[in-house]
Amino acid sequence: MADKASLSLNGDSFDYDVKPGTVGPDVIDIRKLYGQTGAFTFDPGFTSTASCESKITYIDGDQGILLHRGYPIEQLAEQSSFMEAAYLLLHGELPSKSEFDTFTYTISRHTMLHEQLATFYRGFRRDAHPMAIMCGVVGALSAFYHDSTDITDPHQRMVASHRLIAKMPTIAAMAYKYSIGQPFLYPDNSLSYTGNFLRMTFGVPAEEYVVDPVIERAMDRIFILHADHEQNASTSTVRLAGSSGANPFACIAAGIACLWGPAHGGANEAALNMLREIGTVDRIPEYIARAKDKNDPFRLMGFGHRVYKNYDPRAKVMQKTANEVLEKLGVDDPIFDVARELEQIALKDEYFVEKKLYPNVDFYSGVILSAIGFPTSMFTVLFALARTTGWVAQWNEMISDPDQKIGRPRQLYTGATQRDYVPVGQR
Ligand code: CMC
Repeated sequence: MADKASLSLNGDSFDYDVKPGTVGPDVIDIRKLYGQTGAFTFDPGFTSTASCESKITYIDGDQGILLHRGYPIEQLAEQSSFMEAAYLLLHGELPSKSEFDTFTYTISRHTMLHEQLATFYRGFRRDAHPMAIMCGVVGALSAFYHDSTDITDPHQRMVASHRLIAKMPTIAAMAYKYSIGQPFLYPDNSLSYTGNFLRMTFGVPAEEYVVDPVIERAMDRIFILHADHEQNASTSTVRLAGSSGANPFACIAAGIACLWGPAHGGANEAALNMLREIGTVDRIPEYIARAKDKNDPFRLMGFGHRVYKNYDPRAKVMQKTANEVLEKLGVDDPIFDVARELEQIALKDEYFVEKKLYPNVDFYSGVILSAIGFPTSMFTVLFALARTTGWVAQWNEMISDPDQKIGRPRQLYTGATQRDYVPVGQR
């Protein structure tokens, strides 16, 4: 591509630098556009806007490629661990053995929550959605960990990042325990990050909990698959919140709120509810017809993606993991048959082919999580737990960027022009 882009406006011509990435689309640097032309660009939904420069994650949506710091997601899911992926996202390189040991040790030393936070949980209704609890409790961490909220101090930023990664499984498991009325379990740092989470979620103080290595590996892989995904809605929310100088706990709480929506992280819950509603393979055509009907708001949940116009690489690994988990647990769940058949039908259907709608990461994750024993309300919580690593990596990258500015989009104003106030009696 050329290194300049020209724009003609009202008879004048303006040149803008074109900046290349290491891979992927170039960007037209329009930072001077408003100053020079008095005009804004208009891009609701940011379909053509690069909001930042980043070295963390790369997606090629047409090819179905996802790289973290250059490493393909399939290799990380198969060969790495969530802790190693977290280190990679945060620090940019795979750790040496001693770096890895130090990192996992550090994370394990931050798994406990301030004891007063347990009382905080009791303020929620028993039937509170665990995402509601998560938003509240993560935001509240800023009230408990004052010694890591100075964002100008790189050491405090890293302590806050470690705390967030380490405490998220404890917070998530406690949200679950609270909803079912069982006692909270303290973390057991002799277990792996994921094994500890499984124990805090499914164990009880009255019995020893033995972590099943197949489930532990599957769960760890699910965490890797959700760890980061470039400038998606929740990550952009974390960056925008962070751009004002807000503390990291508040920023991650904002990300959790954004992730909750059914078009984003909430899709895994919605996808499983949809599969259950469909129930049997013979009812699939009815739902395919509804998804295609312009007058019906129904969408196939777990299908389609803003960036992927090809198979989501995470969905492939997820499908394989679903096979492994169901086989290991001996679960013969008809919704897995519904999922597989629905995928096959949709992949051949002209509507889905033409619009390039493929299964995304959320299509199969619910089937696995349900087989492991999680209620649907916990699905998005697990997504948030894993995505916290990506959020903190992106937040750190932004804060360390010397060019960082507060995010402040503008608008195309189409409201009333200036007019005089009319007292109520004269309206
Ligand atoms: N079922 C039926 N039609 C669909 C679907 C779907 N799942 N997704 C998109 N379409 C249609 C849509 O109606 C539109 O048709 P037309 O051009 O005729 O108006 C076209 O495809 C483009 O859709 P869009 O909404 O303009 O695309 P988008 O990039 O704004 O939305 C999306 C992407 C993920 C929000 C959307 O595909 C969707 O709602 N999918 C279902 C929810 C879901 O699975 N979300 C999880 C995304 S991956 C994990 C994450 O990001 O958290």
